[in-house]
Amino acid sequence: MTSSRIPGFYNLSLAERLSRAASAADQPHETLAPWTTGGLSPEAADHMIENVIGMHSLPLGLGLNFLVNGREVLVPMAVEEPSVVAGASFMAKLARAGGGFSATTSEPLMIGQMQVINLVNLEEAKFKIYEKKDELLAEADSIDPVLKKFGGGARDLEVRTIEDSAIGGFLVIHLVYDVRDAMGANAVNTACERLAPRVEEITGGKVHLRILSNLADRRIARARCTVPVKELEFGKGDPAGRPYSGETVRDGIIAAYAFAAADPYRAATHNKGIMNGVDAVVLATGNDWRAIEAGAHAYAARSGRYTSLSTWGKDSEGNLVGTLEMPMAVGIIGGATKVHPAAKAAIQLMGVKTASELAEIIVSVGLAQNLAALRALATEGIQRGHMSLHARQVAIAAGAEGELIEKVAAQMVAEKTVRIDRAEEIIKNWK
Ligand code: MEV
Repeated sequence: MTSSRIPGFYNLSLAERLSRAASAADQPHETLAPWTTGGLSPEAADHMIENVIGMHSLPLGLGLNFLVNGREVLVPMAVEEPSVVAGASFMAKLARAGGGFSATTSEPLMIGQMQVINLVNLEEAKFKIYEKKDELLAEADSIDPVLKKFGGGARDLEVRTIEDSAIGGFLVIHLVYDVRDAMGANAVNTACERLAPRVEEITGGKVHLRILSNLADRRIARARCTVPVKELEFGKGDPAGRPYSGETVRDGIIAAYAFAAADPYRAATHNKGIMNGVDAVVLATGNDWRAIEAGAHAYAARSGRYTSLSTWGKDSEGNLVGTLEMPMAVGIIGGATKVHPAAKAAIQLMGVKTASELAEIIVSVGLAQNLAALRALATEGIQRGHMSLHARQVAIAAGAEGELIEKVAAQMVAEKTVRIDRAEEIIKNWK
């Protein structure tokens, strides 16, 4: 990869963008070809889910300017919302001036849960499981020889008792499983199902549910960035016509974070902004975005009160510092990641070799996306930037095509009236 900075990318034609992206990533043009068609054939789709009647497409844009752990990366993002790709790219450019994103991951440990019911003595059953822990781990470990070959396998077993008035209490066994480069649901679910008969023998109870937990709090991705305060300055001016100094923007972002940290109503929206970026990459790589969403919001509520997944503050030199920490159960093998041609293209374009590397990119994009939203909200508001992009969608919905789309959109923005009825009127006058 030469550089993820491609000035003027926005103004190129679709075909030019594809070829610039391919050459920037040192990839043959064919690598990116699946994106010109959506990638998936109806026949392939028919093997993926049930009752297939066709395909559903989303735009695929490239997040530019990303430098993650010193590596240049072009980030494929599948998303329908305007401003998301532009916002992430712009913030990645600001973060780049401070060295880009530093990201890390924990070991790729997933948790499988077994619920054991119909027990006479919960404590006794719990201790019996711990006595047989080595045997159970050895059995779980032997289930997936491929994962084992790559260094994965069963790592730990933890047991909790839960008192319950409706069903009289039960045990919860957590099987901690290293899934390496897989998302891991299949491996973990299989292991839990396989262990269940032996757990029943040991405890005398009945193993009821056997399923992974999407609160993947042992599989965490973290990203940090420093934005030099002068990069935050921007001169469009507030309603009174004053430019925003870097310090004003920085302090506005920190105050916006304080709101999300303290208030669940704001935290939900704040985290949604993070997920705009996270989900777009998760989707582009064929990963399970519902699993990522579930994990993110459960993690945000882990203290018992729902709060922000990110933090924003300043360093000793007054620069803005952001961090994001969240579960990131993504894989690069198995499932759609290997079946969907567009997902394969995404992995290849990013030059990602492990699931951890992918997780590090995704969490960096989430942080960039969060910064984009907070910067806009803390200054001119979200609508100004949003409107011109939104206006294009309204113009298309009103029937504009080709060059007319930009013209109708521009006029609606100039008039500050972005509505379908106005778009229809403008189109009629133009014809
Ligand atoms: C919109 O998709 C996302 C934002 O609402 C996020 C936020 O408020 O932080 C702009």
